[in-house]
Amino acid sequence: MIEISNLGKYFGDNKILHNINLKIEQNEIFAIVGHSGAGKSTLLRCINGLEKYDEGELRVFGQNIGKMSEQKLRYLRKDIGMIFQHFSLLEQKSVYENTALPMQLWGYKKSDIDKKTVELLNLVGLIHKKNSYPKELSGGEKQRVAIARALTLEPKILLSDEATSALDPKTTMSILDLLKTINKTLGITVVLVTHEMSVVKNAAKRALLLENGQIIGLGEIEQLFLKPDERMRKFLGEEDILPNHGVNIRLYFPSTVSDKAIVTAMARELNIDFNIVWGRLEKLGESVVGSLVINVDSEHVDIAKKYLQAKTDIFWEIIQ
Ligand SMILES: Nc1ncnc2c1ncn2[C@@H]1O[C@H](COP(=O)(O)OP(=O)(O)O)[C@@H](O)[C@H]1O
Ligand SMILES: [Mg+2]
Repeated sequence: MIEISNLGKYFGDNKILHNINLKIEQNEIFAIVGHSGAGKSTLLRCINGLEKYDEGELRVFGQNIGKMSEQKLRYLRKDIGMIFQHFSLLEQKSVYENTALPMQLWGYKKSDIDKKTVELLNLVGLIHKKNSYPKELSGGEKQRVAIARALTLEPKILLSDEATSALDPKTTMSILDLLKTINKTLGITVVLVTHEMSVVKNAAKRALLLENGQIIGLGEIEQLFLKPDERMRKFLGEEDILPNHGVNIRLYFPSTVSDKAIVTAMARELNIDFNIVWGRLEKLGESVVGSLVINVDSEHVDIAKKYLQAKTDIFWEIIQ
């Protein structure tokens, strides 16, 4: 659905995006994650042609974005809705009018506009506020209006640029639930740009980690969080402080074995002592995964390894 190959982008002499390679599949919720200034918004804006790129190729629905005329891009953007951190609603217009606006701009029939507006305000749970004005709404409600507005032209893709970043955690979750519903019931592909790990973990199936315009991680989020490599750990702010005696083993628990029972069982069955250096359980979407670092005396390493080798559902590695 979205195919990006070797994409590079400059602002003046500064290279902002380096060699981006990425495929986003139809109907998935995909997250682009990174700290402020990483290049997330720029990459998102390249997808709908609001921003030009300098190297590589970007295709959406098979069409080469870099080679399209403004006129064609305008039509393409009908298929790509967008929402933003600060909602971008018109203050002088009501909830109904804000939602209906794109259809009016495209010259839709009044009866069609009315039908669609009512349908979408119902979907986002705001039909009872259709005559309210943005200043009378909470942040979460404003974002719901923005979402309804972004769906009026029946897009196939919804781009979300930090749509929950101005919201409190509870409202964030309710907006993410709405985006998940939209993804499921309307089959819309959602690309979420965020700097918040909690958003990624809650909503996305796959994610791309961007740092200084470079991809430092790409994959299923269970994999990214379950088996973070060094750059990913740094990104997550997890510099391991490990004991410098004995041997440190990192265990990864997939969703199916997400409790510490395995560790207790290992201690009991092998009758050896080891220390838990640190452990963490994470909720990723519907599932829970965990990782744990244990420190084993050198003399017990071999039997610990043998024990773990027999457990096919646990990943592990020796770390320094
Ligand atoms: N229009 C622009 N002109 C010049 N530099 C820009 C422009 N837009 C963004 N940048 C720079 O590009 C980098 C990436 O910005 P952006 O894509 O907004 O990052 P993010 O969304 O991850 O915070 C930043 O260093 C930013 O200062
Ligand atoms: Mg941004």
